[in-house]
Amino acid sequence: MNANIKIWGLGIGPGDPDLITVKALKILQAADVIAYPAPADGESLVRSIAAPHMSGTQEEIVIATPMVVERHPAQDVYDKAASEIAAAVDAGKSVAVLCEGDPFFYGSFMYLFARLSENYAVQVVPGVSSLAACSAELALPLAARNDVVTVIPGPLDEETLEQQLMATNVAAIIKVGRHLGKIKRVLEKIGATDNAHYIERATMKNQKIVPLSDLNGDSAPYFSMIIVRRSGEILEL
Ligand SMILES: C[S@@+](CC[C@H](N)C(=O)[O-])C[C@H]1O[C@@H](n2cnc3c(N)ncnc32)[C@H](O)[C@@H]1O
Repeated sequence: MNANIKIWGLGIGPGDPDLITVKALKILQAADVIAYPAPADGESLVRSIAAPHMSGTQEEIVIATPMVVERHPAQDVYDKAASEIAAAVDAGKSVAVLCEGDPFFYGSFMYLFARLSENYAVQVVPGVSSLAACSAELALPLAARNDVVTVIPGPLDEETLEQQLMATNVAAIIKVGRHLGKIKRVLEKIGATDNAHYIERATMKNQKIVPLSDLNGDSAPYFSMIIVRRSGEILEL
């Protein structure tokens, strides 16, 4: 471990506590302080993933994150968390910030990184991302040879979703949540429903896999993804 680094963005993987890297595990156990996001009124998912590896004696910083769409309240949350982390480091402590999956793959750690990296040495430790976990659990190889894979956020509008899907061979649609109905409509319109695979809470104890054509309703849990293989060399293996 580099002794100069005092802040880590620690990728702890997609849910199964065993899917943490050896490097992240060593840092998790050695850090003086463990920081993690948690909903304002509930248990922190990232902490529960890391918990089997934690001694329980480390200091903890809870980053209480409201599930809001607006930017500004969230910015205040990250300002406050960054100053708490900075204060711990100024007091001589090291801080590991727990990040679900990989910190720089749509991870909120980047907001802390933007605030802290100018004045402190911050190291990101990559983690197993949900993209890798979902592909593995679905037993669905993602891409071959020159296939293009696109990660598409579900909140995009219907027209953009369709354009992005039509422009790629393989798509991973993330942040499905309340956008499921819209996503199903677009996939049906482009004739891709039968090639779409839905997975929720990949590698967690309550993982669920359903062919999209069998999935009822217009909303899904936050931790869900749809992988669509429309075209390309991957279908010819
Ligand atoms: C804000 S992004 C964070 C991604 C995370 N940093 C990573 O490396 O996977 C959250 C989205 O990732 C996807 N996701 C994360 N973990 C997942 C899991 N265990 N199973 C299914 N989807 C997951 C979902 O689409 C979710 O809406």
